[in-house]
Amino acid sequence: ATDLAGRSLLKETDLTAGEFHGLIELAAELKAAKRSGAEVPRLGGLNIALIFEKTSTRTRCAFEVAAADQGARTTYLDPAGSQLGHKESVKDTARVLGRMFDAIQYRGHGQDVVEELAAYAGVPVFNGLTDEWHPTQMLADVLTMSEHTAKPLEHVAFAYLGDARYNMGNSYLVTGALLGMDVRIVAPEELWPAPAVVERARQLARWSGARITLTADVEEGVADADFLATDVWVSMGEPKEVWDARIALLAPYAVTMDVLRATGNPAVKFLHCLPAFHDLGTTVAREIHERHGLTSLEVTDEVFESVHSIVWDQAENRMHTIKAVLVACLARTEPAGVVEET
Ligand code: CP
Ligand code: NVA
Repeated sequence: ATDLAGRSLLKETDLTAGEFHGLIELAAELKAAKRSGAEVPRLGGLNIALIFEKTSTRTRCAFEVAAADQGARTTYLDPAGSQLGHKESVKDTARVLGRMFDAIQYRGHGQDVVEELAAYAGVPVFNGLTDEWHPTQMLADVLTMSEHTAKPLEHVAFAYLGDARYNMGNSYLVTGALLGMDVRIVAPEELWPAPAVVERARQLARWSGARITLTADVEEGVADADFLATDVWVSMGEPKEVWDARIALLAPYAVTMDVLRATGNPAVKFLHCLPAFHDLGTTVAREIHERHGLTSLEVTDEVFESVHSIVWDQAENRMHTIKAVLVACLARTEPAGVVEET
């Protein structure tokens, strides 16, 4: 069994490749168990605090449903609903919550905040997204890729197009490097991951055999890819003023049917962590439409709604993979019926 008892998950590189694979296998088992009605709750009596300094649909719901399925209770703390950062320091909050809860999920701005929480809480802390990393998303994305390919991950090529100097770009680069994949970052050079992130990925690749490409050339970056991924062009916490410059920079990197064709792979699949800007279904999208006349940004509606798109599997897998993290890090007992081999 995957045993990360008492461990935190703050960034992808907290895990070895073997531990990462173990979590994916556990998530697949938990998914199958839930579907067949055979899930065994292993987190009964536990309490988990969910701190959100940025908004969320998937991550919050995934933690709440995963915890409930496993018998644990959650307490949601929104930005306005706690003293964190305004009236009470991170380290004091960590020590209070650590006395009441068995684990803490944190979504917010700086990675330093989640690291400080983990340093002082005395209980496992899980990063539900910071500016720098989105590790629980990576578990879902790798599970989704493994469900949609017959190849071993080491033979899988995936390209991420878009803003790559933020959480999703950083996380894809190091995750691909950790797992020995063929990972391509396709973006204008000013939006590539920071040199320290690229260096870390190169170090990991020396161990794992991963192929790492950073390129501004879309055709080169997507050639023969099995999976294409993108993300919003402006992330939570960034000021509105960056929209115009970002659109100008990233317009050539939108995932269109032509980009899918440029892979040369008729079976190529499309991933998006969501939320996505593919139609005019949001107020932000309507504002952009008024200003720029655009009806989609990082991905066209045609691609998003096509047979290539596996975004709903990816979203569902947030829950199964987050459940795997909770079980691996917090479960005190083996599932009933499982006999430890000696
Ligand atoms: N992908 C993701 O993290 O979604 P939420 O922001 O809705 O949690
Ligand atoms: N880069 C995006 C990811 C959302 C899940 C953001 O940080 O807003």
